[in-house]
Amino acid sequence: MFTSLLFVPGDDEKKQAKSCNSGADLIILDLEDSVAAGKKEKARQVTASALKKVLPATVQRYVRVNALDTGLTEDDLRAVMPATPDGIVLPKCNGPKDVQTLSDMMAVTETTKNTGATKIIAIVTETAQGVLSLAQGGWVHPRLAGMMWGAEDLAADLGASTNSHDGQYTEPFRLARNLCLFAARAADVMPIDTIYADYKDLAGLAQYARDALRDGFDAKAAIHPAQIEIIHKAFTPTAESIDWARSVVTAFESVEAGVASLNGKMLDMPHLRTARKILARIQN
Ligand code: COA
Ligand code: MG
Repeated sequence: MFTSLLFVPGDDEKKQAKSCNSGADLIILDLEDSVAAGKKEKARQVTASALKKVLPATVQRYVRVNALDTGLTEDDLRAVMPATPDGIVLPKCNGPKDVQTLSDMMAVTETTKNTGATKIIAIVTETAQGVLSLAQGGWVHPRLAGMMWGAEDLAADLGASTNSHDGQYTEPFRLARNLCLFAARAADVMPIDTIYADYKDLAGLAQYARDALRDGFDAKAAIHPAQIEIIHKAFTPTAESIDWARSVVTAFESVEAGVASLNGKMLDMPHLRTARKILARIQN
């Protein structure tokens, strides 16, 4: 379980060192969009070295490789898999088949000690085709740990001039976000909310992070260390919701039925599941 994921450019040693004290649960060293075309090889070497020597064992260490249609993915994996990352992030994932293709590629360079254990987080809404594939199901895969949605690349793919208006995602992006949530839950993996690009607007970030938790997301990605504390705060259940969850659990402990009542309101199994989820979040 993790709540915050921090993207760090794969060729930037200074930011990689800085990310260790960011408080992020999971660090994504990026070989894709934040690395210029001419710096891919340097980024592979710097990233492999950061996995071995810089990032502490207390954080989960992931690497975002280049998309499958770039022809760069296998070289990315060859460079970083021997340094035993906890997982690989796949951008521009167009469907469950891409997860299997990446998994097969990973197996070639995965160390014997880690065979089959290196996880995958798929970024699933960066293309129109990726969004359409979400409703079709079939996403269960032993390596898949989470599904993240992305808005920036999708805007480029759709030809949309913006992804939000008046503090809200516009319709095409709400659809992508919602389908990511449904597909991740159906596959029993973590739904992960996308980055908030305006890293100086911490109030806006807090609002989007609270909306993500409210709707069922388990975690949110970040691009700047200042965003991490805001994300953790937004994903921490309020004292009021913890009180409610404890009261629900207590109400069910005192009855041997599938229904109970609290302050004049009917409670049944979905309420108990929600309450247990809230309490699990404070135990993590
Ligand atoms: N990880 C680790 N450290 C970071 C960081 C990150 N993602 N983003 C910024 N920092 C560091 C900076 O190096 C700087 O360190 P310093 O005080 O020792 O100089 C400090 O945090 C403050 O940074 P700031 O000056 O506010 O921002 P910046 O102009 O240096 O960087 C970005 C802004 C957007 C370029 C930077 O946040 C970044 O590279 N983010 C990640 C981008 C990425 O990976 N995108 C791909 C996924 S969408
Ligand atoms: Mg991108």
